[in-house]
Parts: sequence; structure tokens; C-alpha cells
Amino acid sequence: MSGKISRRQAVIGLSSTLLLPAACSRPGPETGPAEVFAHGVASGDPDRTSVVIWTRVSGFDGPADVGWEVAGDGDFQDVVASGRFATDRDRDHTVKVVVDNLAPGASYFYRFSVAGEASPIGRTKTLADGHMERLVIAIASCSNFPFGFFNAYDDIASDADVDVVAHLGDYIYEYSEDGYGGETGKRIGRVHEPRHEIISLDDYRTRHAQYKSDAGSRAMHGRHPLIVIWDDHESANNPWMHGAENHQANEGDWYERRAVSLQAFFEWMPVRDPEPGQPPEKYWRHYRFGDLASLVTLESRHTGRSEQIYWGDLTRFESAEEAQAYYRDVIGDDSRTFLSAELEAFVADSLRESVEAGRRWRVIGNQSVMARVVIPRLDDPYFGELRGELDGTGRRTLDGLVRRGELGVPGDLDAWSGYPAARERLFEIAKEAGARDLLVISGDSHSYWANALYDELGQSMGVEFGTTGITSPRGLLPIGEAALERYDRLAAAANREVIWTDGRYRGYIRLEIDHAGARADYVTVTNIETRDYDKRIVYTANIASENGELRYL
Ligand SMILES: [Fe+2]
Repeated sequence: MSGKISRRQAVIGLSSTLLLPAACSRPGPETGPAEVFAHGVASGDPDRTSVVIWTRVSGFDGPADVGWEVAGDGDFQDVVASGRFATDRDRDHTVKVVVDNLAPGASYFYRFSVAGEASPIGRTKTLADGHMERLVIAIASCSNFPFGFFNAYDDIASDADVDVVAHLGDYIYEYSEDGYGGETGKRIGRVHEPRHEIISLDDYRTRHAQYKSDAGSRAMHGRHPLIVIWDDHESANNPWMHGAENHQANEGDWYERRAVSLQAFFEWMPVRDPEPGQPPEKYWRHYRFGDLASLVTLESRHTGRSEQIYWGDLTRFESAEEAQAYYRDVIGDDSRTFLSAELEAFVADSLRESVEAGRRWRVIGNQSVMARVVIPRLDDPYFGELRGELDGTGRRTLDGLVRRGELGVPGDLDAWSGYPAARERLFEIAKEAGARDLLVISGDSHSYWANALYDELGQSMGVEFGTTGITSPRGLLPIGEAALERYDRLAAAANREVIWTDGRYRGYIRLEIDHAGARADYVTVTNIETRDYDKRIVYTANIASENGELRYL
């Protein structure tokens, strides 16, 4: 489908400043010569009548005049929109066009050209109006370049029934060549560019370029429109409103770093730019899929999150009661927020509108796992024996789990579990809107989840499908795959909200929704260290929506 089109067809315009290679070159595809369209084409942030199309032109030092065309057919006989876009160094030679006056629920083809070179042809789709029979969303998160090839993206590209890809964050990672994933990256030839931790605008741009050089990335973006939210690593690990765990004083001003990271995000992603005068961090949306579904996306990092409270030294608690009281009173303090008041109001309005419009499903696209998850007790002799066999890292990981399991407290305090009062407030908002049927989709955890959500009173609030990393591994893997499987089974047994979880796989979720039900296939790729892979569905969750509530079948 990369569809090289003939020169005669492709040349929409010529530019005079093509220089190959040029001073501001960015990492290109892993093999082959530098190409003008080395980072592929992409589309996204669709509504009923418009969609963003995107590319980046390489090899230019100065301005470049880029032609674009959108057509109803792959031969471009039926061109419905075309134009020119002037790009330059100020926007890292990225090209972004909001194409409007399109038909709802329609597929389109698009392409770019510059200086006699034609881009690959991309395909995209607008959101449906009126009746929509079926919606297929591929749900992705945590695509770390050094940890592996984006084979899961490649598999998503091969699925012609996908309507839209929802990437829930950690689209890039900020670490240096020696940071998270570094060892694997060196072994498989996927070392981070630049080599150092990214801090400046140029750093973030170079990193985005590297991620979009992956062949799976180019295939997926060229094939399906993208809905994307950021999580933490698009800026730095575990940020909150006024800082981040992985931002130190010697790395300059946090707000400046955050601003350049978001500037690079908006340059390199096929999404609408912030409205003039609006802070870029206020990034949330309500996508309406005909009469079938709403998808409301959240921003839970920069606009409303209170600083994380981490467990720290757990030996300070003398009993489970003491630790749980701390969780309830300090971590669970009412004043601690996860979303901004403005976003909460947006969610309230969106859910109310969705219910009033009679849409069948309300999907919440969010960064972090929402289910209440405590660490299970690991007093099973299996883990005692295992401890003797583990190396230092494995032993430390296991000991941390054992201690938390004894205390009966949540492990991940950067997720919604670290903000229980805010979670309850979100549920209040949903109830007031008449939406106790939330279908929450989540990333961030590098593990698969099929969860059921309940409010404080034990009232059903919906379900959650959490996706694993495209490449990022589960943090508990140092205890070994077999132990992780056992651990996950105990976690599901110990938590009312967890129906199933499994951290052994890399892949995505294929969510298919119609008026009768929802089905989530947990699709894993069997290898990420080379381009060769097979796919396997490791779990399927089926959901019915009845009388305003969701339940597992
Ligand atoms: Fe991640």
C-alpha cells in the first residue's frame, strides 16, 4: 500500500531549496538512503467533516513549498481538496493541514509532493454521522524505540477493518542511550537519538523523528487515522502540574522543558494545533462516532495533577492497618486532584451530551489504569522458593511486592490508584450525567487488563480495558515470566475490580463495538527484537450493555 505513484502524477509543485543531506537532517529509516518523506505520512484527530493530514520533508535547510491532495480514490481521479503548505525550520519542516468540507464516515486517500518527489499515499477516514453499525479501535501505548521494533503497529496496519488507532501515550520516551531500554537497544541496533536524555526543543524533535522512522510506524500511520493523547514520557517520567520525577534542577526550568516537549509533539503529531491563545497543555477531546459511541480523551499530567505521593520506605509502617490508614487519609485526601476543574467540567458536558444524543457507548480514553488494584499477598511457598533463584534485581522486585502484599496497599501510585478521591469525583460526574456505563481504555502499565469499575458504594460504573506496551516490558518481569503469570493470577483473585490481567505480552487491544455489544481482543506479537513476528490473541473480553450498565459475558 506504500503505492509509489508516477512522477507525472505526483508532481504538484516544485521547490528550489532541496538539499540532500542537509544540516538539519533527522534520523531517517533504518535502512536505505535519506528520503524526502523519510518519516512517512499520517492523519488524525478526525471529526465528521475534517481530518488532519501530516508529513515531514527531509533535506531542506530553508523554506519548502509542499503540495497536498486528498481524493476519494487511490488513483487520485476524484480529488476533493488540494493546496500548498509552506514549511520551514521554525516548525522542523513538518507539514500539517486540517482538511475540511469532507463527507462524514468516508474514507479518503492523501499524498504530498515537494521538489519533484512524491510521498507515499496515506488513507484516512472521517467520523460517521447518524447511524454507525460498527466501530473498530486499535488501542496502543508505550512504544519505546530501544526495546524493540514496532511490529504491533505493523499488525495494526494490516487490519483493514480498523477505523481509528487510539494511542494512549508514551508514544516516545525521553531517556538517554543508557536509560530505560538502552541495553536492549544496543543489542538490536535501536539506540536512542540523540544519545542523551532529551531536554531541548531540538532534542525532542530528533527523538520524534527517530520514532517515526520505524517501518511499522510508517505503515500504521499511513493506513489509519490516529487519535492520540500524551502520557508522561512525551515530556519526562511522572510529571504533575509543577514538575516531574525525571526532571532535575540541573536540567533547567521545568515549564520551559514541558513547553518545548509539547511544541515538538504538536509539530510531529497529526493532531489539531491548540486554539490561538490556549495553553497547549489543555489537550482533550470528545470524538463522536455517529449514534454508536462517544470517545472522550483526558489529560492527566500537566493541567490538574497533584504531586505524586510515593510509598518510599515501607518498613515505617508497623501494620497493615497503619499503611491503609495512611493510604486513606494522606494519599486519599480530598484535596488531591488528577484532572483539572476545567477538564472535569468538559467531561461532565461531554457525557451528558452523549447520553442525550442516545449514543450506545461512552468510551473514556485515558493514560493510566483506573481500576483499584492492591498488591496480592504472596505468602504462597512458590515465591519463597523463587526468591532463592533470583538475581539481585529480581529479589528486590519480589521483596517490594511481598511487603506491599502484606500491607494490602496499591502498588502504582502514579496511576488512578494514587488519587482515589479524584477517581470518585470522576464517577460522581458520570453518575450526574446518567453515564454509569463507562468503557475506559488505558495505557501506561505495560500489562493487559480486563477490569470492572465500582464506585465507593460498590455500584457498577463500567469496565476498563488496559493495554500493554507496544514494546515496553512489564516492570515486574525481573521475577521471571512464570512467576509473573502466577502473580497476575493472584492479583486478579485479590482485587474485585480485576477480572483478568497478564503482563507477559507486548501488543495492543483490538476493540470492536456494535449496538449489541463490545469485544476486546488482546492481540500480542510474538517477537519485537527483529521485524519477524506472528500475532496471537491471548484473551478476549465480551461486554454487554443493558439498562445503562456494562457487564462481562
Ligand atoms: Fe510507558
